Amino acid sequence: MSSKTEVLKCLTDRKGTYISGENMARELGLSRNAVWKAVKALKSDGFMILSSTNRGYMLENEPDVLSEASIRSQLDPKIGDIGIKVYPVIESTSETAKKMALDGAPHGTIVVADGQTCGRGRRSHGFYSPEGGIYVSMILRPENFPYRDAKTVTAYAAVAAVQTIFTASGKRAGIKPVNDIFLDGKKVCGILTESMSDFESGDIAWIVIGIGMNYCLKEDELPEELRGKAGSVFGPSDHKVTRSRIIADLAERLLTGFLTACEEDVIREYESLLINVTQK
Ligand code: BTN
Repeated sequence: MSSKTEVLKCLTDRKGTYISGENMARELGLSRNAVWKAVKALKSDGFMILSSTNRGYMLENEPDVLSEASIRSQLDPKIGDIGIKVYPVIESTSETAKKMALDGAPHGTIVVADGQTCGRGRRSHGFYSPEGGIYVSMILRPENFPYRDAKTVTAYAAVAAVQTIFTASGKRAGIKPVNDIFLDGKKVCGILTESMSDFESGDIAWIVIGIGMNYCLKEDELPEELRGKAGSVFGPSDHKVTRSRIIADLAERLLTGFLTACEEDVIREYESLLINVTQK
């Protein structure tokens, strides 16, 4: 973990209370200067950190800043040191993740963006991706988990998305086959699973799971064709969990779930979440 991530994690764990620079330095095994530099960098990222000569530092609140440090500070260390690439706006996190997979990026690497200019959906559809949403693509390498078949991987991604939405908002979403996630009759999340296989052996070299979640959409800003069809996890007056927390939770579920979930359980859970929606 970088000093910045460690300092952010320490401040987030004690949100609303002060910790002295000296104590934080001792606890994290850093110099006081390294703590000071990390705090300075976090402030310039947009974190509201109060500094008091006598009391030290306090994270006032958790702003919705999307950064490698903010996501990493929410991840359970037991999932290991995954690669995290965060972009303000890119064409498509899945396109970038696929290029990274071809260049050898390891299992579990995630590509995240605040917005996409060319978000892609299934069957050559686009995916509306304004800034302020959740766009994540994860690289999976089948040698790192008991890969069975595409159906289970896709089903597990949908189950993980539904569970993540519930943890963040307490709202129970459902799955419209194959893989659209709906809340209150509106689509709030789409999943695109792509892979590359070795033509001769037929082995899967890598899989990229792209998940797009509408975080807090404003109905009046939606393109005409999505009005009444696209919803979001949070409404304007809901208490919102930050996108970094949601992304970290989703990444953890995907990584641990693919290792441990039993195929029959995944399919059973997937089927129990299926809903009947007439919307296309
Ligand atoms: C669908 O609804 O048909 C699937 C949508 C998948 C969208 C996600 S957003 C992150 C990743 N990047 C993309 O370009 N697409 C996926």
